[in-house]
Amino acid sequence: MKLLAPSILSADLSNLAQQIRLVEMSGADWIHCDIMDGHFVPNITFGPVLVKAVKKSTKLPVDVHLMIKNPDNYLEDFRNAGSDIISVHFEEVIHLNRTITRIKELGAKAGVVINPSTPVSSLKDIAEYIDLLLIMTVNPGFGGQSFISNSERRIAEAVELRKSLKANFLIEVDGGINTKTIKSVSIAGCDVFVAGSSIFHSDNISASTAELKNLISK
Ligand code: DX5
Ligand code: ZN
Repeated sequence: MKLLAPSILSADLSNLAQQIRLVEMSGADWIHCDIMDGHFVPNITFGPVLVKAVKKSTKLPVDVHLMIKNPDNYLEDFRNAGSDIISVHFEEVIHLNRTITRIKELGAKAGVVINPSTPVSSLKDIAEYIDLLLIMTVNPGFGGQSFISNSERRIAEAVELRKSLKANFLIEVDGGINTKTIKSVSIAGCDVFVAGSSIFHSDNISASTAELKNLISK
């Protein structure tokens, strides 16, 4: 089953409930929230209060991507705000096994994110404990960037890693996913597709959501 996760990073936040309704009615499976603190990445977005508003606006799972320093300090806040999936960056967490365990203790699914230059093999000793591996296909921090071309190879490596460990984490991609890039990452083995600007900056949010969903469902 291939899942589409629109990122509200590019949505019209002054009309958030309506924007979420549009993607939900057009085939979205998760709602992706890009949390940025201006320290781990050079941009600031939103925090638990907005996740709470998203949770009120949808029945879909809320997929929270923490691009923040010291994410361990905020896990409870994001879980209490309604996060169903909480993903932390491999590059930022020193005691990653403890963090993954804590996210699960809180009742959420636990994800690890890797930046474009972090080897997939870095995850070989945590992969069997995670529910989601998010492979960044742009450098984190901003929507609307170009897809990094070696991403398909990295997705294939993640598929191999999962097989070798008999693990069952989902593989997610995030950044530069649109009608031109989504097919090749799907063929490479991706399960969940984050798309922000290709949906919310399009002329027709419903149609672009349905089109991407259709491309991964074939
Ligand atoms: C980067 C963000 C973006 C966002 C999707 O930190 O994580 O990748 O979700 O952005 P688009 O789909 O506009 O590239
Ligand atoms: Zn993201």
